[in-house]
Amino acid sequence: MKAPKPLVEIVSTGRWLPERVLTNAELERMVDTSDAWITERTGIKERRIAPPEIGAAEMGAQAAKIAMCRAGIHAGEIDVIVVATATPDRLLPATACDLQALLGATNAAAFDVSAACTGFIYALTVAEGLLAAGRGEIALVISTEKMSGIVDWTDRATCVLFGDGAGAAVVRKSTNNRGILSSFIRSDGTLAELLWRPAGGVKVPVDYAVLDEKAHLIKMAGREVFKAAVRSMAEAADQALLRAGLTGEDIDLLIPHQANMRIIEATARYANIPMEKVYVNVERYGNMSSATIAVALDEAIEEGRLKPGSKVLMVAFGAGFTWGSLVLRW
Ligand code: ACO
Repeated sequence: MKAPKPLVEIVSTGRWLPERVLTNAELERMVDTSDAWITERTGIKERRIAPPEIGAAEMGAQAAKIAMCRAGIHAGEIDVIVVATATPDRLLPATACDLQALLGATNAAAFDVSAACTGFIYALTVAEGLLAAGRGEIALVISTEKMSGIVDWTDRATCVLFGDGAGAAVVRKSTNNRGILSSFIRSDGTLAELLWRPAGGVKVPVDYAVLDEKAHLIKMAGREVFKAAVRSMAEAADQALLRAGLTGEDIDLLIPHQANMRIIEATARYANIPMEKVYVNVERYGNMSSATIAVALDEAIEEGRLKPGSKVLMVAFGAGFTWGSLVLRW
């Protein structure tokens, strides 16, 4: 199969991570857990926690400013801002609009994409479609997550998994054969209750009963989510590779969603990609939902793991359930 011609490329990236590090040792003092359990089951050693006064928009704006500076563009040039977040600052208006205001990017259309941990792949795919259809020249794609705000800090089954962080990418029409070669997005809403926040929207508004039950915070059936994640990320890897006319052997770097070391290893094994070609930072940040791939991409670029022409496979899975993948030529 002839390789598809990329229509849209990532020009630059940026990330913002809070300074505060929450270690497994500290979690041992908060809930009935141990560093050994968390490390063995997840690979996570520490995660970052944003200060109370900083919200998702501000976190994302910090990451975006770095990406914009590296691309050499100013706020007025941005046509579209797509924010992926599972932790919006508020339900109305979109976090993307707050972020737009912080950047002063008032020539842009700004909106949120709600696809949980698959958000960065969804947001990139949406931006790609808009630019390819001629609805703008430059898009800003941002994943920003303050997971610490929606975690139940008394639930050891979930609170050890998540962390805060943001990543951003400047995206524009490809002129040099670099860019997105394929993408695949999918969801299955019949499984929503395996990973969700049952209350807090219009159907079950927050009241005293909700607060008592902590139904506005994350609830998860960990084992079922684990199995679905492994299955779906394998399918996603297959689909993006197929659509790009590639196999795992052609891939120079796999950037999987960083939820759990065992899921990462299973995805790499399935796609036939050796671990030395897999970017892993889950031990330092935990699961930052949609921000994991955006942050990992930025770190991988900084560490020189991408060379011109490198082929990158990104694969994610999250609440919804949602899953997706993307192949790009760097
Ligand atoms: N510390 C110590 N013990 C714990 C902890 C903890 N933090 N959490 C659960 N346990 C206990 C359980 O109570 C249970 O005890 P029991 O046997 O006495 O009943 C035991 O450990 C085993 O629990 P399981 O949930 O069956 O453990 P499992 O091996 O499935 O690991 C985990 C749990 C790590 C959550 C795993 O299921 C997982 O990673 N699932 C995917 C979840 C995920 O990544 N979600 C994020 C969103 S989706 C995504 O990003 C892919």
